[in-house]
Amino acid sequence: MEIDGKTQIIGLFGDPVLYSLSPAMHNAACSYLRLPYVYLPFRVEKKDLANAVTAIRALKIKGVNITVPHKESVIPFLDQLDESARRCGAVNTIVNNDGVLTGYNTDGAGFIDSLQEADFNPAGKKAVILGAGGAARAVGSALTDHGIREILIINRTVTKAERLVQLLGNHVYCQQLIPYSTLELTDVDLIINTLSIPFKEQGKWLLNFTSFQRALFYDLRYGQMPSDFLTFAQTINAPAMDGLGMLLHQGARAFTLFTGKEAPLAAMRSALVL
Ligand code: ATR
Repeated sequence: MEIDGKTQIIGLFGDPVLYSLSPAMHNAACSYLRLPYVYLPFRVEKKDLANAVTAIRALKIKGVNITVPHKESVIPFLDQLDESARRCGAVNTIVNNDGVLTGYNTDGAGFIDSLQEADFNPAGKKAVILGAGGAARAVGSALTDHGIREILIINRTVTKAERLVQLLGNHVYCQQLIPYSTLELTDVDLIINTLSIPFKEQGKWLLNFTSFQRALFYDLRYGQMPSDFLTFAQTINAPAMDGLGMLLHQGARAFTLFTGKEAPLAAMRSALVL
């Protein structure tokens, strides 16, 4: 990659950013298309977020992805939000248009893209979401936008689950997460894990599921080893996928917002080898 006076900067704000796969993925796309962009990781501590956003304008950074812990707290520093970010109250992509900063959220659409790539169409289906944080909000909004029939949200803090039910509207229900209990689920097509805790502790599964017919188990996390949640799916011969596809597709959509170019998916995917 050649860097000269015409090089434009795009990047990532988060803390930590050390193990992020986004720089490799976006730089692979820039190189593949021979675009004069470089994607840099910026470790931004909470106390520095306002200054970091100001620096986007001052340094004419073309755009940044936003990750933990800034997806919600960055919103007051932006000029406008598009519908995707407003709906789920979180931003994962900022685009700088001549000093006007617009916040987007490509997580939900990236999640749907990854499902469609796996030949799973959410329309008319029933889903269970474990968790009610930012990731659950993005995924839940995207599923309702794509015609899901029903969603059950299961979360430790019921008030948070209830807020998500209100946000998502009709045909969305919630119940409390009771660790180590067994859930009888009928007609469930998709079970999504957004919890930030392990699915297995001291040799016990956090939840057991019975009575489902070939539900797809989707863990939003990814890593070299299959997560406990995906291992559980294997033990019952259920189809399973991790969050790498969502990472790819949210990144591809962000790349298009940054550069105006169609994302080279194959080049980006090959940079994601763990
Ligand atoms: P994100 O915003 O990235 O989705 P998060 O909100 O920090 O992540 O956490 C995701 C989920 O993990 C939340 O639903 C959280 O449950 P609460 O709403 O009750 O906080 C869940 N979670 C975190 N720690 C947990 C624990 N010890 N037991 C059960 N659930 C937990």
